[in-house]
Amino acid sequence: MNLAERIDAQRDQHLAELCEFLRIPSVSAKSEHKPDVERAARWVADNLAKAGFKSVEIIPTGLHPLVYAESLEAPGKPTILFYGHYDVQPAEPLDLWTTPAFEPTVRDGNLFARGTADDKGQVHIHLKAFESLRAMNGGLGINVKVLIEGEEEVGSVSLWDYVQKNREKLKADALVVSDTSMLAKGVPSITYGLRGLNYYQIELTGPVRDLHSGVYGGAVPNPLTILSELFAKLHDKNFRIAIPGFYDGVVKLSAAERKALNSLPWKKKDFERAVGAAGYDGEKGFSTVERLWTRPTLEINGMWGGYQGEGAKTVIPSKAHAKFSTRLVPHQDPHKIAKLVEKHVRKLLPKSVHCKFEVLSTGKPWSASFQAPIFKKAQSALEKGFGKRAVFIREGGSIPFVTQMHDTFQVPCVLIGFGLPDENAHAPDEHIALENYFGGIKSIAHFYADLATL
Ligand code: BES
Ligand code: MN
Ligand code: MN
Repeated sequence: MNLAERIDAQRDQHLAELCEFLRIPSVSAKSEHKPDVERAARWVADNLAKAGFKSVEIIPTGLHPLVYAESLEAPGKPTILFYGHYDVQPAEPLDLWTTPAFEPTVRDGNLFARGTADDKGQVHIHLKAFESLRAMNGGLGINVKVLIEGEEEVGSVSLWDYVQKNREKLKADALVVSDTSMLAKGVPSITYGLRGLNYYQIELTGPVRDLHSGVYGGAVPNPLTILSELFAKLHDKNFRIAIPGFYDGVVKLSAAERKALNSLPWKKKDFERAVGAAGYDGEKGFSTVERLWTRPTLEINGMWGGYQGEGAKTVIPSKAHAKFSTRLVPHQDPHKIAKLVEKHVRKLLPKSVHCKFEVLSTGKPWSASFQAPIFKKAQSALEKGFGKRAVFIREGGSIPFVTQMHDTFQVPCVLIGFGLPDENAHAPDEHIALENYFGGIKSIAHFYADLATL
């Protein structure tokens, strides 16, 4: 039996184990799930031990534990650091799930549950690849360090501090991550660029308390009106962000990269089917792929205030709130951008409201060369797992840890994603295609096996 045959023979077993992992509601954002998050950390640690890692640690942090394991039994061979996350996004709104979020179910070749694509399913691909390799070859053939966190979906609050204090321990020749997507079904992909993310929250206060809109309306500031006017001014008619200095430092794509990205087998039809909107908007002068992967954005994530209950209530609210974010691209500096955004917001607001402005998190963009030999290995491993040549893509999502690691260790970061853009990550009915899960295990097992000769 060869590696691929062993993986095929274990399909049912692998899937059953993944379902066990997915049944743990490890929602990092909600304190009521803290015990579940801890249970998930223990599940990962136990399964790393079962996959043959002799040294496995559960590291407590101020919030959710990190899981670390290493297998350093191949002196003179390369060392990789594999990173992923075992926490998931909240499952709400629950009534929009076809089957419950934490009761994994197979339908039409897809496995549905929160965390299937982001990121438990993808972490599990690596666990099963390690296990299969060890079972077949008696060892991994390379040195492996594994770091799986439980706070990715809430901004990796404790991770960076741990990395800074454990630089020697985490040192590796390459970082390997599976927390991204494939360009499309049947198109294995390696991601070489991600956007950065800054997240903001503002609170506007007008009157000291809610007011009768008949008694006071017409002579007082309405913070919700002012909030709407503010956001209406943050884009111009070409959908560019109207904040002075916002685009300073944004790298212009080379003609070669622009051509490469626009000739990928990316289908506008698939994109539009996934979105389902009546029409599309975006920055003038750029293709959709360029807008999604290489251009910065400003998006309102939520706005609230005033009366939202049943029927009518004639009120002028005292307060208005909004959460919004900016996606960043090389070489925008997240801290500089946060300052520019705050300065401009304050400038646009009238004196009649008080503004509390908070920056909830910042994260750098990332884009890197993929010339190092390890990328060829990744490409040929994906070809073995999927029977197709892998393409190099950028993506619009953010994994701040990748940038931090790249900056700190200056090593190749190999992002091999097995999700698909329409698999509803962060939304109801999240799923992963079984062919990508199983193809992923094969590809990753071949990849690690092949790294012994890097
Ligand atoms: N796995 C995603 C990041 C991602 C999604 C990368 C799609 C590439 C394509 C990650 O779990 C995530 O959701 N990141 C957040 C940011 C984080 C700081 C909360 C994001 O991108 O919004
Ligand atoms: Mn993720
Ligand atoms: Mn996510």
